[in-house]
Amino acid sequence: MQIEPFALERWFDRYEHDADIMLAESGIRSLDSADFDTDPGELGYVIPTDGDPEFRATIAERYDRTAEEVVFTCGTQEANLLAFLSLVGEDEDDHAVVVTPTYQSLRSVPAAFGEVSTVWLDPPDWRLDAEDLKAAIRPETEVVVVNNPNNPTGRYHAAETIEACYEIAADNDAYLLCDEVYRLLAADHLPPVASMGDRGISTTSLTKAYGLAGLRFGWLCGSSEVADSARKWKDYTTISPSIFGQHVARQVLDPAFDADPAGDAGFGVDYDGSVDPDGVSKREAAILAENRELAARNRERVSDFIAEYSERGLSWHEPVGVNGFLTVPDGFESGRAFCRQVVEEESIVLAPGECFGVESNDIGGDGRSETGGVGQASAADGTRGTEGTDDGSEPDLGGYFRLGFGLPTSELEEGLSRLGEFLDRNR
Ligand SMILES: Cc1ncc(COP(=O)(O)O)c(C=O)c1O
Repeated sequence: MQIEPFALERWFDRYEHDADIMLAESGIRSLDSADFDTDPGELGYVIPTDGDPEFRATIAERYDRTAEEVVFTCGTQEANLLAFLSLVGEDEDDHAVVVTPTYQSLRSVPAAFGEVSTVWLDPPDWRLDAEDLKAAIRPETEVVVVNNPNNPTGRYHAAETIEACYEIAADNDAYLLCDEVYRLLAADHLPPVASMGDRGISTTSLTKAYGLAGLRFGWLCGSSEVADSARKWKDYTTISPSIFGQHVARQVLDPAFDADPAGDAGFGVDYDGSVDPDGVSKREAAILAENRELAARNRERVSDFIAEYSERGLSWHEPVGVNGFLTVPDGFESGRAFCRQVVEEESIVLAPGECFGVESNDIGGDGRSETGGVGQASAADGTRGTEGTDDGSEPDLGGYFRLGFGLPTSELEEGLSRLGEFLDRNR
């Protein structure tokens, strides 16, 4: 078995540490540990290791599921890994359909265990055509993978589209796995896929919408069959989530743990001890409201910037969440070339569009080892890997770059101002 290098992580590894401004982070700015009680007491494992049963039951209610159908994980990344370990690779011909461009692990991990077909989103608005998905599905398809809202494009697929994807997967006895890590950044969000029926699996965490990446706390919610298999694998991955993560996550998500019933919940809301009608804690509501407001404000700033430089070829499909996929300005050969020049001249990190496709390359490297080939992210036996479908053509992702705007507005403004100077200089 082989796994491709994670192109985005390699790119960040090369540039992020020394750069002045990170304009490629896909989540909202981080909250401060001082806003929470960070003392969980005894520093043992979380017991039981799949998470506190009462807290799991609280999370399960969001999906109309039971505590047994929820497994707490170290972030969405582990939730996705456990899902793929559970669904793909048992049989030689196990197959996954992955909607792309996407966060690389959603494609590379199933490609390491089985075979992957790619269904492309259609630019410029990155529309998902459920008919393409239908054409890609096979009798051996175990899972259809979407990320909604999508990273990197920010496209939020509509309820009808996701319902159609669910029906196609379920009719084929396959699962629809939806990575919903950005879902709550949308004020008007869809119901989670795990609430749609037995064939839905939702994965998420407190990383992107809440600004709590450092907790490394997330979960998977799906059928007991999938959850039990995920538990079996989890004994070999991380055993349990971090006890700090669960302790702080509970303060955010569990209405019963809302901070100081008599006082202020922090984040600008007066907390009166009550729980809002959706069963969401006041604290969670306050964090999400503040984050959505920051996202909306910053999205407008980026939108103005794009309008100012539209004659240079800059455009985007206005995203949901806090990352957008912009067209590379005229005069630059590729996303990679553009982003490299920006970081070298302006010390601003952007993410090349090539990181989100099906290339297996050393994108963070010096260019000499880039293969640039499409498809064939093959495992060692040569029988597995990725292939394009005949349906929906592959967009040229080298014509795009991802810009993350979840950072504090003043930092975003500094970044955009430097980017503007760069564009004015490089005509
Ligand atoms: C779609 C998607 N899923 C998962 C992750 C990783 O999330 P976590 O920090 O919860 O593991 C990311 C990070 O960028 C992401 O974009």
